[in-house]
Amino acid sequence: MQTITSIKSSKNKTPLCVITAYDALFASLFDEKVDMILVGDSLNMSFNKNQDTLSVSMEMMIYHTKAVCSGAKNTFIICDMPFGTYTDEKTALLNASRVYQETNAHAVKIEGGKNRANIIKTLTQNSIAVVGHIGLMPQYVRVEGGYKIRGKSEADTLELIEDAKAVEKAGAFCLVIEGVKAKAAKRVSEAINIPTIGIGCGNVTDGQVLVWSDMFGFFEEFQPKFVKKYLDGANLIKDALNKYIDEVKTKKFPASEHTY
Ligand code: KIV
Repeated sequence: MQTITSIKSSKNKTPLCVITAYDALFASLFDEKVDMILVGDSLNMSFNKNQDTLSVSMEMMIYHTKAVCSGAKNTFIICDMPFGTYTDEKTALLNASRVYQETNAHAVKIEGGKNRANIIKTLTQNSIAVVGHIGLMPQYVRVEGGYKIRGKSEADTLELIEDAKAVEKAGAFCLVIEGVKAKAAKRVSEAINIPTIGIGCGNVTDGQVLVWSDMFGFFEEFQPKFVKKYLDGANLIKDALNKYIDEVKTKKFPASEHTY
């Protein structure tokens, strides 16, 4: 099982493989296979069918993180801090402490760059391990007016590098970079000493993360360019469900071997 020390020493080595999970059943399938499991607030969209991640509560994240921890006892687990739960140092410390006190998660993740450095510093100084998250940050979707790919200009790339350095200096042990042009993401990754986990950044980071329901084809609303579909999950389920319905209606199920 990975630890903060082993994750930190993964810089420029074999890429770290990270996947999201929201429940114990799927987490148990990923346990001991991936390097880290992220209980992402993306659950609000892919699991709960909401339009963005903003309405996730601390209670929801604790509930789902507990479930993931009980399904994946031998994997490093990160809990996403929901929108509005780390607006100032005191609030952030109270809420992040809840993650450690009420779940077995190993770290929390916070969206933001230099604007959140004080929060990351407070948490790490109080023995809470923090993963940063810069680039396209879903919790900023309304204020940004949509999901916008970053790193398209030199000025934006320099801003991302500044953000990454601030997050590292504040004490984060790992950094998620989302939705950044690969050339810019490479420069960001090279500018810091902690490992970077990319999503929608190409293969230039120290690891990759994907949302499980996207990569296994269960989220049908849309498929971003960066997602590779490793399974046609939704159609497999629909075909199997249709077969079950048909067999119940035609009395083929239960057959004698399913009968006491
Ligand atoms: O919430 C989430 O799943 C995430 C990943 C997309 C990095 O933050």
